[in-house]
Amino acid sequence: MTPLQRVLWPLLPYAMLNDFATKDSLKIIQITDSHLFSDDSRLFGVNPNKNFDEVIKVFFKKEHPDTDFILLTGDLSQDETPAAYQYLLESFKTCKKPVFWIPGNHDDEQIMETIFTQSSLFNRKRLLKLKHWSLLFINSKLENSGNGYLNPRELNEIKTQVNTSKKNIALIMHHHPIPVNTPLIDRYILNNQDDLWDIISHSKTKLIITGHVHGDYSLVHHGVKIECSPATAYQLKKGTEILQIENTMGYKIHYFERDKHYSKGVVWSAKANL
Ligand SMILES: [Fe+2]
Repeated sequence: MTPLQRVLWPLLPYAMLNDFATKDSLKIIQITDSHLFSDDSRLFGVNPNKNFDEVIKVFFKKEHPDTDFILLTGDLSQDETPAAYQYLLESFKTCKKPVFWIPGNHDDEQIMETIFTQSSLFNRKRLLKLKHWSLLFINSKLENSGNGYLNPRELNEIKTQVNTSKKNIALIMHHHPIPVNTPLIDRYILNNQDDLWDIISHSKTKLIITGHVHGDYSLVHHGVKIECSPATAYQLKKGTEILQIENTMGYKIHYFERDKHYSKGVVWSAKANL
């Protein structure tokens, strides 16, 4: 950052301070499903705030310097209180990277908006144009349900991008659009997944990035990669039909290149020495 940029930092939008929109290769960190509380509460016997703190610590230690930006893909709070979102915001206080967020089924979008606008680095965007990719941020939250749903407006946005984009398209959404073969979470899948696949199958859409499943999954369906990130709060045992919690935490690294995307999930247990 130049001295002038440093002085103007709080006044300028992220695009003027970051060159990621013109780069051929990008490294993006996905942080998801933190399920934060306003206090020290437990969820299924784990302490989500403590696990989140550890993920943030590891992020700053290992990933921060060469990260271009961060994706927060929903279920950021469990109790949907302003204090929980404030807790998250404070954790990113010294992070000088842009953050792009979407809500999950556990989130209150209005409260998120109110709290996150305190930081000029936190962005709620519809479309982020990179040099070779267009990232389209989708709201899959269905009120009063753990399942996801794409309303006609969301589907139209996707259709428009599919019909007009000359770049590869990546959808960023909370819910998973095909089963991950863990019946416990597949019950809470995107309800109208067929509407989505009718639009994006074998199109310029090459990638879908999701949270929600509490596990590291990489799948391919109709020519589209589906990448799900480990949660910071806890994982659900893969393949389980009943509630089986693993007290582990993690994040996912996404590397974008001209016509290529690859990723690496990072997961560890509370006692691991990273
Ligand atoms: Fe979640």
